[in-house]
This record gives sequence, C-alpha cells and structure tokens, in this order.
Amino acid sequence: MPKNFQNLPLTEYLEQYRQMGMLRAHMPGHKGRGISEFPHPSDVFSWDITEISGADSLFEASGILLAGEAQTALLYGSGACCWSAGGSTLCIQAMLAKMRSENRTVIAARTVHRAFLNACVLLGLSVRWVFPRSGGMISGEYALQDFSEALQSAVAAGESPCVYVTSPDYLGNMQDIAGLSALCHAADAPLLVDNAHGAHLTFLHENRHPMALGADYCCDSAHKMLPALTGAAVLHCRNAADAPLLKQHMQMFGSTSPSYLIMQSIESSMAYLAGRGHAEVQRSEILAQELRQKLAQRYQFIGTEPFHLTIAADGHDLAAQLRQQNVECEYEDSSFLVLLLSPVMTQTEFDALYHALCSCNPKPPKSVPVLPSPMETVCDMRTAALSAWETVPLAQAHGRICGPVQVPCPPAVPIAVSGERLNDEWLSLMGFYGISTVAVMR
Ligand SMILES: Cc1ncc(COP(=O)(O)O)c(C=O)c1O
Repeated sequence: MPKNFQNLPLTEYLEQYRQMGMLRAHMPGHKGRGISEFPHPSDVFSWDITEISGADSLFEASGILLAGEAQTALLYGSGACCWSAGGSTLCIQAMLAKMRSENRTVIAARTVHRAFLNACVLLGLSVRWVFPRSGGMISGEYALQDFSEALQSAVAAGESPCVYVTSPDYLGNMQDIAGLSALCHAADAPLLVDNAHGAHLTFLHENRHPMALGADYCCDSAHKMLPALTGAAVLHCRNAADAPLLKQHMQMFGSTSPSYLIMQSIESSMAYLAGRGHAEVQRSEILAQELRQKLAQRYQFIGTEPFHLTIAADGHDLAAQLRQQNVECEYEDSSFLVLLLSPVMTQTEFDALYHALCSCNPKPPKSVPVLPSPMETVCDMRTAALSAWETVPLAQAHGRICGPVQVPCPPAVPIAVSGERLNDEWLSLMGFYGISTVAVMR
C-alpha cells in the first residue's frame, strides 16, 4: 500500500491561513466568522443531513425549504425565488435553460463570467454580443443604444430576444438596469441580470437591487457579499409562476445532494438581513464612503458599487504591500486591486484597512488597452467548445479558432469565446491579462 496522505496540504493551508488572522477583504462575505445571534452547531457534521422525513427536498420543495424561499422572496420583493447550494452558477444555468425553453436568442453584454458561457454551451444557446464602448474585458461601459439596436435587429430577424447583463461586475461597476428594463419590456424581452456580486443591494440607503429596478430574473451569490457559506445563492424571478420551471431546470444541472449546511446559511443570512443586518449594510455603506473620502488624495477609486473598494493602481504591487499589513485582497492585476467589504465588518476592521492603505505606496496602473473590433465568429459556441482541441502558445494562435474557454478565476471573464477566430489584436489583449496559452480547435 502506498503511504499517501501523510501530509494534508489543503487542511494545513486552511489552518495556517486561519492562524494568520488576516483581514479578509475577499469573499466569502462572512469574513471568516459566523454571525453570533444565529444558532450554529458546535459540530458541523450534526447539521449535515440529507432529504430525510421532514427535511423537505430542495428541487421539489413543499415544506421547510419552500417556507424559507417564500420568506426570501418577501424580503427582496421578488415574485418568487429558488435557493441554490450550487452558487450563482446553478442559477445562471437555470435562468438560461428557461430562455432556451422559450426558444429565445440571448443578447449579452460581453463582460460575462465564464459560468454564462458554459451554460450557453451546455444548452446550445446562440448569443448576440454587445461590446462595451469603453473600459476593458473585466468591466466595461455600455450604451443603451447598442442594446436597443441589438433588440431591434433580433426582432427584425424574427427572433424572440432576451437581454443578459452582469451588474455589479467584478470591479464594482453597475449597469443602468432601470434603463435596460424599460428597453427590454418595450420589446417584450425578459431582462436577466447576473447580480452575483449584489446580494446586499436591496438594503443600501437606496435600493439598487436588479429586481427593484425592473429585472425579470436575477441571481445573487449570498456567499460573496453576505455572511453565508460558499455556494449559497438565490435565483429571483418577477413572475411567481416561473418558479416551478426554474426549479425543474435547476435540478437538471445541480447535485442531487444540495448541502443542508449551505442552505441553513442562506436562511441565517436572510434572517440577519431581516433583522440587524439591514442597519449593518447601511452602516458599512457609510464607513466605505468615509474610507474612500479619507483616502481620496492617495488613491484613485473606481466603480459605483459601495462594497467593491476598487483601486486603479499596479494591483500586484499593492496586494503585496497590503499582505505585509495583514490584509488579503479579492483580486489583483496590473491595473486594479479589488478589496471586498461586507456588512459584518467592524469599525475596527474599517480602521485597520484605512491604516493599512495609508502605509502603502501605490504604483501607477498599466492602462487597459482599448478593445479591438469584434473577432469573426466561425462556428457556434457549443460546436467549438465540445470539439477536439489543443493548447498553443499565444504566438502560434493567430488565425486559429478558439476552442473551450480557459480563463483564470478570478475574474473568470473570458476574452475570446469559443468559435471566434483569434487575431493578433485579441491575442495581445490576452497577453495583457497574463494569459500565455489558448485552447484552439484542432
Ligand atoms: C460576475 C459573476 N457571475 C457569476 C459567478 C458565479 O458565481 P458562484 O461562484 O456563486 O457560482 C461569479 C463568481 O465569481 C461572478 O463573479
């Protein structure tokens, strides 16, 4: 017998990170601790159950889980919602499956997470892209006019469109959801929002949640911004009658054993928001605003979502300096650094973050290249992603067709998508984001 598992690298890493006591300016939103007033088992195994009598069953919920979902919909003012223990990824799969069942063409803002692309591949959906007018591949500024034209040309081609956008995006930029919703509804097209980064938005001083601004479907990763366990998410829909079909789609992609611990953490974080959490979101919103104001001379902040503290700077260098100050960030590249705040952060933690940032000297960011004009689409995403492929260095990829999308996470925002013919301009953009190889069709 080989003597393996003498070392436990993952366990050792987790324990070491715990002992370091870093200020966790990254996901999950619980920041490494539970929420005190909700009961948690002293032993997690005792609450880790399966679909036994009385425990309900997530994908055909009719008991305790349905009650939790109904209360969540009430809290957010949505028509209905479905809990997910498979993150927003599962919610995105379900809402797109709903669009597939309605035979809709998806018009999507190009700065999408790879969960969207993978779902389109699995479902065989075709996408009409809207590219940002400015910004980069992780975050861009879009014009309503471009969505309006895409809707018109889809309708003129006899298609039934829907629109899919990511807001807030990884850098904390938000789209004009109210404007998009008006456009979509005039064209009889549902609006789908990837709100993975915005589960807290309902509770800000001004409600900025997509469902309040007119979205028809949206996913919230509770684990990113709320005190919930990784994997906890909620899929909201405007029309309550859609919920059973969404559930049906969710069970097509989700594990048959959704974690009760994760679901319990959704319930806890919802109860938190219904109680003291609402005030804590608003308190953190004010503290975040003060932090930006106090540091405005030293740092250039970007983004409009209050809990994404995004700095335009050499992110790699700044992240290394912050690590010396016991702060771990969410995301770094050569142009940006993202620190994720949360309602559960204490005044002491905000002060510690302020002092850490005061003692760092940011280096200027590399400017993000202007996006080249769109690549030629040679075949549909599904064909390209599921065909035989090989990995080649960027220097050898000009003229080849992008196979399955391979993109580092975070931020998991693809540059080329499956089926597009790669050219030197887009390959150099990949190089800018630190990608050195690409999967191409054979
Ligand atoms: C914008 C965006 N959408 C979707 C997802 C997928 O969410 P989850 O990890 O909850 O499945 C992520 C994850 O980072 C994301 O950043």
